Amino acid sequence: MARPRRLWALCALCACARAQVLDSPQGLHLEANLQSDLMAGTASDAVHSQPLQTAQDGADAASEVTGAASTVSSASAAGEENWQVLQSSSLKIAVLADGGLGQPFYRSQQTNGWTKLTYGSKHMDCAIKVDGHLAKLSGELDVVKTTASAFAARSQVTLNAVPQAQVLRSYSFLGDGMVFNITFTFTALTDVTDLQVYLGTSDDWIGTSDQPRKEQGHFVQGQFQPEAHGKVLRVQSSDEAVFAFSPNPDSHAIILQHYGNFADVYAATMSDMSRSSSDGAYGIYVPCGHLARGETKSATIFYAAAGASELDHLLEVSAKANSAGHAVALPPTPATPEEETAQ
Ligand SMILES: *[C@@H]1O[C@H](CO)[C@@H](O)[C@H](O)[C@H]1NC(C)=O
Repeated sequence: MARPRRLWALCALCACARAQVLDSPQGLHLEANLQSDLMAGTASDAVHSQPLQTAQDGADAASEVTGAASTVSSASAAGEENWQVLQSSSLKIAVLADGGLGQPFYRSQQTNGWTKLTYGSKHMDCAIKVDGHLAKLSGELDVVKTTASAFAARSQVTLNAVPQAQVLRSYSFLGDGMVFNITFTFTALTDVTDLQVYLGTSDDWIGTSDQPRKEQGHFVQGQFQPEAHGKVLRVQSSDEAVFAFSPNPDSHAIILQHYGNFADVYAATMSDMSRSSSDGAYGIYVPCGHLARGETKSATIFYAAAGASELDHLLEVSAKANSAGHAVALPPTPATPEEETAQ
């Protein structure tokens, strides 16, 4: 039987700072729950091999190799515990102590259990780039909201240890709990020429499938219509479907044919491929563009998942979230258009 592995180092991309740890009995309880879920979910991973052999560059590759090489390390160092687990009736995902996101799960109607949506015990991968360079999230995590189903915390985006922006990471559910709203709100501390956000996974897996079908497309009248360069990413197996998308009109769904290096995802701003069924990687790219000092912009990514038997409902709530997100991203601007155009 495969043993659970913990790839703590993987979140180094998005959230490098070690936040202070709240030593709560509740936190330990939630941690224990997640651990048992991981144990339940890893049995069929043995067929998939991690890229142990290739020493690629980039923090992601380095940490991936480390994570794959280590076996069990449940006694993680202080600061590496989950902050809490966010849960709806349909989805579950841990917030890590550094404010990043852990492994996503959906509740399967068939088994009535939590089913994982990334390979192994992988966290969500996330990257923020400032002026073309991978930035870090650092500074003490300032938690502004924490409930069983929502979390928000501030930290700083730094480049070469120089603060570039404040970021508020907000996580919440909508769409009957089937849709997870991941919103990063940036306020520039200096003039930032180009800010880019990526969220996804360097190694796809949903349910028991290591080669889920990934497709770009659109929501059209309550259906998903595959189309090259469509901004909605559908990841599907015979048992479940995931939709990941951003309401940002310039966002892209990136699909890679190979797995193992999120740096390859965040190197792209377009996808060469509009569909793939290989063991690959994917991410949603949200360009925020230029931020003048003091300017605030946000990037929202919706991550929705459900079992195949609930596909109609999933489509409905996902399409609604997309429209609602568009309304937030592109507010009607009759009264004060200067707010949008001032640079
Ligand atoms: C997503 O979350 C952000 C931040 O909390 C919020 O402003 C936005 O309205 C949410 N989007 C939807 C469609 O609920």
